[in-house]
Amino acid sequence: MRVHVADHPLITHKLTVLRDKTTPSATFRNLTEELVTLLAYEATRGVRTNTVEIETPVAVTTGLAISDPKPLVVPILRAGLGMLDGMVKLLPSAEVGFLGMVRDETTLEPSVYAERLPDDLSNRQCFVLDPMLATGGSLLAAIEYLFDRGAVDVTAICLLAAPEGVAAIERAIDGRNVSIVLGALDERLNEHGYIVPGLGDAGDRLYGTV
Ligand code: URA
Repeated sequence: MRVHVADHPLITHKLTVLRDKTTPSATFRNLTEELVTLLAYEATRGVRTNTVEIETPVAVTTGLAISDPKPLVVPILRAGLGMLDGMVKLLPSAEVGFLGMVRDETTLEPSVYAERLPDDLSNRQCFVLDPMLATGGSLLAAIEYLFDRGAVDVTAICLLAAPEGVAAIERAIDGRNVSIVLGALDERLNEHGYIVPGLGDAGDRLYGTV
């Protein structure tokens, strides 16, 4: 599994404002979108392309076009939805599917409660959007779900991660083609499952429920 932590002052600056508890929801949403666009630049480094021939006004030349089937972008509901616009801004030809994950209160096992994806994911390259990689449970279940449906290559884009969550995914992924692109790798998880220092509950902060 490849893990890439973005190392850029603009990303750290935007994350710093995002982390600040006094940042209002409207600013939080705009910054999330901007951050995802910056992270998407790194995350799409391995996007599949093929060589095409085109004619400029001056000469015939070759370039690259994003291959078919187009990449599939999958925001995990609810907080991943706040990352979608920033992603498709950079990858407008991508198809978009949706996955809703919920955790059983007693077993703590995550499962899929809503799904709107193409039936056949054979040979698809997928980009999963989930802002907070905490324990890794729901992201891992989402990745497994996509592989079970035929996907062959999954890149997750997260704003923040805890080392515990990254390690949990790494242990479970077992040689399959998974990459994780992070805005920052934080210190740890606290006893309530929040990332420290983190930014609190990403869904609440995006949608103004705090
Ligand atoms: N989900 C969040 O929104 N925040 C955390 O810190 C952990 C999980």
